[in-house]
Amino acid sequence: MINEKKQIIADLIKIDGVTNQEIYQALEIPADKKMGDFSLPCFRFSKLLRKAPMIIAQDIAQSIKTLTYPVTSVAALNGYVNFLTDKLYTTKKVLKEIEEKGSSYGDSKEGEGKTVCIDYSSINIAKPFHIGHLSTTVIGGCLYRVYKKLGYKCVGINHLGDWGTQFGKLIVAFKLWCSEEELNREGMKVLTAIYVKFHDESEKDPSLEDQARLWFKKIEDGDAEALRLFNLFKEITLKEVDKTYKRLKISFDSYAGESFYNDKMEPVLAELEKEGLLEISEGAKVVNLEKYDMPPCLLVKNDGATLYATRDLAAAFYRKNTYDFYKCLYVVAYQQNLHFRQWFKVIELMGMDWAKSLSHVAFGMVSLEDGAMSTRRGKVVLLEDVLNKAVEKSLAIISEKNPNLDNKEAVAEKVGVGAVIFSTMYNNRIKDTVFSYDKVLNFDGETGPYVQYTNARTISLLSKAGKYDIKSVDYSGLDNEESHAVIALLEKFPSIITDAAEKYEPCYIGRFLVDLCREFNRFYLANRIIGEPDAVKSARLILVDAVHKVIEEGLSLMGISSPEKM
Ligand code: ARG
Repeated sequence: MINEKKQIIADLIKIDGVTNQEIYQALEIPADKKMGDFSLPCFRFSKLLRKAPMIIAQDIAQSIKTLTYPVTSVAALNGYVNFLTDKLYTTKKVLKEIEEKGSSYGDSKEGEGKTVCIDYSSINIAKPFHIGHLSTTVIGGCLYRVYKKLGYKCVGINHLGDWGTQFGKLIVAFKLWCSEEELNREGMKVLTAIYVKFHDESEKDPSLEDQARLWFKKIEDGDAEALRLFNLFKEITLKEVDKTYKRLKISFDSYAGESFYNDKMEPVLAELEKEGLLEISEGAKVVNLEKYDMPPCLLVKNDGATLYATRDLAAAFYRKNTYDFYKCLYVVAYQQNLHFRQWFKVIELMGMDWAKSLSHVAFGMVSLEDGAMSTRRGKVVLLEDVLNKAVEKSLAIISEKNPNLDNKEAVAEKVGVGAVIFSTMYNNRIKDTVFSYDKVLNFDGETGPYVQYTNARTISLLSKAGKYDIKSVDYSGLDNEESHAVIALLEKFPSIITDAAEKYEPCYIGRFLVDLCREFNRFYLANRIIGEPDAVKSARLILVDAVHKVIEEGLSLMGISSPEKM
């Protein structure tokens, strides 16, 4: 996306041997606002021009005889050429654009005709939806909305973990200790419980493991009874997680999980064989990746069983053929780095030029106080429990701060769930984080509730102040440092979205929203609205409304609701 002011400035600058585009790219927005709105560092040209940066900067500044509006001044300082622009121009332009576009401010057409597949959440059937799946779910959902905003067609895929020997174990456990009636009544809880029980019991009675293997074989062979139970477990799991997905505003276009690829691996393996890429190693089929400093990619075990990687390979081909994706993203924890590097490499070795459009969007761990978790021992932190607790605590805070608020429960749901989502995406993806309820629910911190609260403030201001008149506006009411700071951020919003998409970093949006709220609150403290002359009041209300619109759109991209009052 071309920045209009930056382009006007780039057009003013002529340097022998440097293209207009290079100049455009070299222009920076200085951290110190006093330096100007844009600044050209001249160090990078000294080799080419055989001159000191200070001299180059002076030469450039002197060469610009007439300025193009909205540029108002140019000056050389310490090897930089600094440019100032008319603030009023930006103020009017940005506010007008947000007023007109509303929630579509920041939309673009860059993705037109392109499809992005996003593999996220990808939970495991019959296992609890625990906090380990929180990041992939909300980051994936956010990237989905962000790409959509940029005009891409998105395909959200829940690559269900619905394959593996554990399903044999579950059938054995189910037959021994459970009934369909109980399963339908109790749901997931009982599935987890019998799975844990299986592990305890099989330590005492190893024959259980043999039975489990037999049942798994039956699933593989398409035995009716085995498949029926397997599908029942799947149904129960999906029905239950759906509640959590709704709370998180997450949806999918496809639930094609691992089992979907049962009959789609053979052609891929045949192709690998044909290309001479498959090696037999101790009876197993592998792709040797020694040259690339990686252990071999194991695709078929010596007993003929296929693996997680085999299914991922088949899935990639399937997705390429079905969706002809421009990009295929895998939002999966960094623990699986090697897995993705390995099979991405296999696709590349098969000569597929689209190998480079596969990306592993890795993220760090979220842990609560007591750290690691294991399904086998049943010691997991359920996502639902985390959400419930956050909502409960929000309700307590809201009841204290605003006892007369209507619909407190509904607001607490939005605030509590929003707080969890916001905090999950507030840091760079790759960082491990420790989750603390008090921290994520702090209404004055860098949190979801702080952003929601600021938004509620904009709404209340707009409703108290009444209608503003867009025709008689005195923009000098916004000619002050606090207003300029808010406008500068509003102007940046579209580029925040493109950056978030390009780097797969939802945290850019959360950080931006906190900055915007901070600057807005500073503006609000320093600039009176009600009681000012109408034209000034109107100008300030237009700004309030623009902030309101951008906050709501930012939160909505993250999957967070914006309560009107809280
Ligand atoms: N089900 C896996 C897990 O929970 C994640 C699957 C990620 N997606 C993929 N295509 N491998 O660890």
